[in-house]
Amino acid sequence: MPNPSLLILPGDGIGPEVMAEVRKIIDWFGANQGLKFDVSEDLVGGAAYDVHGVPLADETMAKAQEVDAVLLGAVGGPKYDNLDFSLKPERGLLRLRKEMDLFSNLRPAQCFDALADFSSLKKDVVAGLDIMIVRELTSGVYFGEPRGIFEEGNERVGINTQRYTESEIERAARSAFELAMRRNKKLCSMEKANVMESGVLWREVVTRVGKEYPEVELSHMYADNGAMQLVRAPKQFDVIVTDNLFGDILSDCAAMLTGSLGMLPSASLGAPMANGRPKALYEPVHGSAPDIAGQGKANPIACILSFAMALRYSFDQGAEADRLEAAVEKVLADGVRTADLLGEEGVTPVSTTQMGDAVVAALDASL
Ligand code: NAD
Ligand code: IPM
Ligand code: MN
Repeated sequence: MPNPSLLILPGDGIGPEVMAEVRKIIDWFGANQGLKFDVSEDLVGGAAYDVHGVPLADETMAKAQEVDAVLLGAVGGPKYDNLDFSLKPERGLLRLRKEMDLFSNLRPAQCFDALADFSSLKKDVVAGLDIMIVRELTSGVYFGEPRGIFEEGNERVGINTQRYTESEIERAARSAFELAMRRNKKLCSMEKANVMESGVLWREVVTRVGKEYPEVELSHMYADNGAMQLVRAPKQFDVIVTDNLFGDILSDCAAMLTGSLGMLPSASLGAPMANGRPKALYEPVHGSAPDIAGQGKANPIACILSFAMALRYSFDQGAEADRLEAAVEKVLADGVRTADLLGEEGVTPVSTTQMGDAVVAALDASL
């Protein structure tokens, strides 16, 4: 059997910095657990624009379609803010999601004990938190037509369209119910059925799919209330399923429950390929963090935990994913902190590289 293939797209800003630490972890699993990957690396985002004049070259897109999994750092940056919309770094990532048809984006928010004191919320609100947001990723207002900036009379109008077909809602809902079955059998669907027809359809289809999962306790919530409930009492949730835009916002919100946006991984999954593995892209929830890029300050944990998700969801290596997550937990319990995790007095932050090395040392200690 050939080794599983992995395409690495470090991207922009802190993307390459956090990805360098993931490379150490990948090498560790190859050297110590016989888990070898055929790794190739390519450009995405501003880095691709600088070389190819587009945020994702067709050859890179084709490669992404062929590999067993893609691992992405982050895209974007102020240098590219004034580019034509179609050439912006973010379009490279959106093209990957759309053309790979990665409709189900899993964004777990887990509060490690060592960080419970550090969240901007009270410790008892977040301690032990372990929730999963399932964000629909290939439709909704991100992709709906018509879109654009048009002339209307003597002024311009900016238009985006929220659009969901029944089958798009159905497949996202089904992936969330399947996940709920493997967790605590509790699912909350969030939309705004009070003001949006797409929300009315969303609620109707999720309820219909729910009939196939009678063991799962299904509830519905308006997304604005959901945002409030997420910071009021996040432990009331287990799995949340929601659309593309609400999922983007709610998952950044959930990030702060864990202490930092630098902690949150994600898996974007599509339909199974011929080899039975789902089409998959793994990436941290955070962006390219231009404010700290190039300073060795970025927290690589979100990207490292994204690789743990790849081990679990693409490579059937749940025990090794557990090992990696436990190594991260140990490092945090030992008090190792990048600058974004500083709350306690008298703690000196470690660099991105030192955090990666600490996780590797914890992996060594796990053998
Ligand atoms: P951001 O996530 O890049 O940064 C928000 C804040 O969180 C910043 O203060 C940053 O320093 C901090 N932060 C983020 N990740 C961190 C980490 N790993 N360690 C320590 N601190 C971290 O969001 P933004 O500033 O709104 O966007 C910057 C650029 O990134 C934009 O171009 C945006 O479009 C892009 N972006 C890309 C992705 C992606 O590639 N998936 C996601 C979000 C934003
Ligand atoms: C995310 C990001 C992206 C999104 C951008 C960079 C396209 O914010 O992955 O959360 O809006 O989906
Ligand atoms: Mn986002």
